[in-house]
Amino acid sequence: MSTLTLRGLAKTYLPNVRAVKSIDLEIKSGEFVSLLGSSGCGKTTTLQMVAGFVTPSAGQVLLDGADITYSEPNKRDMGVVFQSYALFPHMTVGQNIRFGLEMRKLPANEINERVAEALSMVRLDGLHDRYPSELSGGQRQRVAIARVLAIRPRVLLLDEPMSNLDAKLRGEMHVELRGLQRRLGITTILVTHDQVEAMTMSDRIAVMANGTIAELGTPQEVYDVPATEFAFNFLGQSNTVSGTVVGHEGKSTQVRVGSNILNIPLRTARPAGEIRFFIRPERLVLSSPENGIIAGRVVTRLFLGNTWTYEIDSAFGRLRVIKVNTRGGQPSEGDTVGISWNEKDMQSASGELENV
Ligand SMILES: Nc1ncnc2c1ncn2[C@@H]1O[C@H](COP(=O)(O)OP(=O)(O)OP(=O)(O)O)[C@@H](O)[C@H]1O
Ligand SMILES: [Mg+2]
Repeated sequence: MSTLTLRGLAKTYLPNVRAVKSIDLEIKSGEFVSLLGSSGCGKTTTLQMVAGFVTPSAGQVLLDGADITYSEPNKRDMGVVFQSYALFPHMTVGQNIRFGLEMRKLPANEINERVAEALSMVRLDGLHDRYPSELSGGQRQRVAIARVLAIRPRVLLLDEPMSNLDAKLRGEMHVELRGLQRRLGITTILVTHDQVEAMTMSDRIAVMANGTIAELGTPQEVYDVPATEFAFNFLGQSNTVSGTVVGHEGKSTQVRVGSNILNIPLRTARPAGEIRFFIRPERLVLSSPENGIIAGRVVTRLFLGNTWTYEIDSAFGRLRVIKVNTRGGQPSEGDTVGISWNEKDMQSASGELENV
C-alpha cells in the first residue's frame, strides 16, 4: 500500500525559472499515472522532487500520509529510472541488476530468480555477462529498467524509460511492464512525451503544460472529453471549427457555421457569440457528395498503411479526415465528397486553461 500525494509542489530554479508552478496530485496505491507533456514543461523536475533529488521551492510530497518532502532519496524506497540512465560500467548486466538485491540482503536463490525474471521481461536473457560498453543504447536502457524492477520498490518513477527502443520493442515493453506493475501493485509515475505510451499504460494521465497540470483523467477521458482546448490539440489530432452560438435547447447548443445549424453538446451554456469547437479526424465520415451533411473537395490524400489521411476544403474550412484502409475504392485528390458526423462528436472545451 503506497499512496503518493503531491501538494502544491513547486520548483523555481534560480534566478527565476518557474519549472513547476503548483502541482496537486493524489496517486492511489497501485495506480499508474503518466505525466505527459512537451519538452521543458516540468515533467522531470516534478519526478525528481518526488524522488528526492531536487528540493522543492514550495509544497509537500507525502507517502502514505507521511511527509517525505525532505527525506534522503535512498530512504524513500522508490525505484527510479532516469532520463539519462547510468549503469555501473565495471559491472556486467547481471551484476548491475544483482547489486541492489545484494544490498538488501535477499537470499541467494531469490536474487537469482529476480535477476532472471527481470532480464527476461526486458528481453535480454542472453546478455547476462556483457558489460554496459558492449550494449546498444536501447539495451542499456532496458538493463536500467530491469535493475529497478528487480528491487520491487514501493514506488516506481520512470523518466522516458523507453525513448531509445524501436516501436515494436517499445510496444512489447508497454504490455510487459504494465502487466508486472499490476501484478506487483507498484504505485507508478511515468514521465513521457509519447502519447501512445501514456494512453496504453496509464490508469490516469496528467497532461502538463508550463509547469502545471492542464488536464487529468483516464486515457479515455482526456482523449474523448477533454476540458480544455489545449488538450484537444495536444492529444491526438483535432479539427477546430469556428461558429456562432444562436441558441440553446436542453443540453445542446445551436451553433451556426455558414448556412448550417449544428447542435453541439456543451457541458455549460454559452452566451451568444463566437465559439470554437472540435472534432477528431477519425469521427468524420466520407460519402458521396449528396449523402454528406456538408460537401468538400479533397486537397491531399496520404497513405499511412492502416489508414488514409485526407485534407478536405469545405464550408467548415480545411478539415482533416482519417479513414481506415479497407483496400476499397478511395476518393482521390480533386474529388468532391460528402462529410458527415455524429452530433455528439462535435465538442467544445468547457474550461479554458489559465496561465498557458
Ligand atoms: N537545474 C536546472 N537549472 C535551471 N533550470 C532548469 C534546471 N533543470 C531544468 N530547468 C528548466 O526547467 C524547465 C523544466 O525542465 P524539465 O527538465 O522538468 O522539463 P521536462 O518536461 O522534463 O522536459 P523534457 O521532455 O525535455 O525532458 C525547463 O525550462 C528547463 O530549462
Ligand atoms: Mg525530462
